[in-house]
Amino acid sequence: MSIISKDIQKAVQLLTNEQLVAIPTETVYGLAGNIFSEKAINSIFSTKKRPFFNPLIVHIPSVEFLENVVTHIPKKAKLLADAFWPGSMTLVLKKNRKIPDLITAGKDTVAVRVPNHPVTLSLLRQLAFPLAAPSANPFGSISPTKPSHVENYFKNDIQMVLDGGSCKNGIESTIIGFENEEPIIYRLGALPLEDIEAVVGKIAIKNKKEQNPEAPGMLARHYAPKTKTFLVNDVLSELKKHPNKKIGVLVFKDSINNDSVTEIILSEKGVMQEAASNLYNSLHLLDTYHLDVIIAERFPENGLGTSINDRLQRATFA
Ligand code: TXA
Ligand code: MG
Repeated sequence: MSIISKDIQKAVQLLTNEQLVAIPTETVYGLAGNIFSEKAINSIFSTKKRPFFNPLIVHIPSVEFLENVVTHIPKKAKLLADAFWPGSMTLVLKKNRKIPDLITAGKDTVAVRVPNHPVTLSLLRQLAFPLAAPSANPFGSISPTKPSHVENYFKNDIQMVLDGGSCKNGIESTIIGFENEEPIIYRLGALPLEDIEAVVGKIAIKNKKEQNPEAPGMLARHYAPKTKTFLVNDVLSELKKHPNKKIGVLVFKDSINNDSVTEIILSEKGVMQEAASNLYNSLHLLDTYHLDVIIAERFPENGLGTSINDRLQRATFA
């Protein structure tokens, strides 16, 4: 029997009983549990095979709720929350004493966001506690953007995927931390840099190659398909380097018109948002075709293109 269901009341019941439920958000599906239940939080880590040093995002129902979670809200954090929540932005702020150390991996900060999905907002309003929810995939593999992706990963481990359809943004939230009251990007994501800068001015990006990254979602190889993947500017010349191989090609908008490869076009109209929304599903699909190689085309370096390139880069072995 399928574990996919639209029954919000059942999700309320399971979560209240310290069980896990996969929840829809506008970015990717999350594997959710009560932040105050040690049992639930431990099973998030064990189900995902996620190392305990990697902290979780706390999902709250409203901007107003933020004061129940953190001790201090920098001015620019408030501006950002008012501008973009509910939405695809996570803020990392000083945690208060109620937030268990297990959630934050012992850090004195907590990552928080108000997701923009009607089903999960309704769920959060009915619960007496916020939800910790990392992306609902085994550690290091491709994030889920459809209920079936989660079911394929975890049907033997959890009782329910709350069905909210396909995720319309399709890549994870943009994570913003604060140093000396000033915002700094910890992870590029579904909210474009340009939109953030329009609210708080020029903003720095934490060095991606850091040894000990602030956000382990910044680890070099992450979000990865099982098939060997290359990210290139010119797909046709990369093709020539792989003679007699079964090849999958992932392009932004223009077909390479080559019948000997399996091609996926992310957005024929050339719309970045549509491309982002199709990205992980396309990688999931290409991974099922038993190909030797996936060749992905690099996106233009602006708006969501920058975030998509970030994820594609992490999908490669390079
Ligand atoms: O869109 C999203 O953000 C999705 C949906 C489900 O909300 N969630 C998500 O969670 O991508 P996860 O766990 O896959 O990625 C969360 C990232 C991790 O890289 C983690 O290290 C970072 O957030 N993070 C969490 N707490 C942090 C903290 N206190 N300081 C720095 N980074 C933190
Ligand atoms: Mg993740």
